[in-house]
Amino acid sequence: MGKKVLTIVLIGCLMVGLCACGKKSTNQGKSSIKIGVTLYDQYDAFLGQMMDFFEAYAEKVEKDTGVTVTVEIYNAAASQSTQNDQVEEMIEKNFDVICVNLVDRTDPSSIIDAAEKANVPVVFFNRELVEEDLQRWDELYYVGATALESGIMEGELAADYCNHHPEVDKNRDGVIQYVVLEGEAGHQDAIVRTEYSVSTIQDAGITLEKVDNAIANWNRDQAKTQTLQLLEQKKNIELYICNNDAMALGVIDAYESLEYDKKNFPAIFGIDGIDEGLSAVKEESMVATVYNDKEGQAEAMLELAYRLATNESVSDMDLLDGKYIRLPYAKVDSENVDSYLTTE
Ligand code: BGC
Repeated sequence: MGKKVLTIVLIGCLMVGLCACGKKSTNQGKSSIKIGVTLYDQYDAFLGQMMDFFEAYAEKVEKDTGVTVTVEIYNAAASQSTQNDQVEEMIEKNFDVICVNLVDRTDPSSIIDAAEKANVPVVFFNRELVEEDLQRWDELYYVGATALESGIMEGELAADYCNHHPEVDKNRDGVIQYVVLEGEAGHQDAIVRTEYSVSTIQDAGITLEKVDNAIANWNRDQAKTQTLQLLEQKKNIELYICNNDAMALGVIDAYESLEYDKKNFPAIFGIDGIDEGLSAVKEESMVATVYNDKEGQAEAMLELAYRLATNESVSDMDLLDGKYIRLPYAKVDSENVDSYLTTE
């Protein structure tokens, strides 16, 4: 589904939820709500763009419903204990709902205990905790996407490109030498995207040879450094499979800093469709990306948070198992990138 269509569907759902039968919100009389958000790292490119959308959408909901919606965003700066303290602070400050982008997705216990004790609902997002943890209390939810889908789509895009562009195999040995640039160790998206992108390419009949893999923690600068180190070793690299766009952009930065002409770049693939990633696809320095629906996730999270904060029912929101909202990914290449760029 194109981004525009998806956005319209989500806005439609929200209008049904917030303005059923043309009435304003049935929010049990609250005139203002406070939503707290804590991010694992405020400098993360994808999350930064998702939050811009979240705030813009909060303003829209405020206008549509007449309810004052205050959003406060905290930076946990990669420390789980800082994030735990931030949640305590939000509870003390009477936030109505707390959205948590966990630093350590295996360690949500303090947050869950504190929220349950104070009866403040929590919407986890983007960094997925294990199901048993989400089941620990009724008022815990998760908004994100299905990592598997993005890995498979990235693999399909890469396989399709290799099949139609024999020149990817620069040394003509019938084998594609590749590197995977991975996000943080232990992140569900890094683990699953790495595994499924590669296996999907192999399943399409392409012979791959791993030159190396490198962890660049979702980060553009780290990816540039890692790529320059690989290139110093004079290895032949024909394909870069990156767990996200920021790292794919770092690979491009490395080749540009060595003054490679774009037409001699290896084939570079990303995931996310952040603004700079979409521009790189448009300019053909990145072959393709997989759209990680930041707008859809922001809208869904805002709708869920709004309803929880105003004690409205969430029963018609189609939550999987009553707890999960997962937005679909989509493939973006030079053929359809304009439809993503024009709605930015
Ligand atoms: C995104 C990455 C981001 C990470 C943060 C992933 O879903 O694709 O770009 O850095 O989430 O948790």
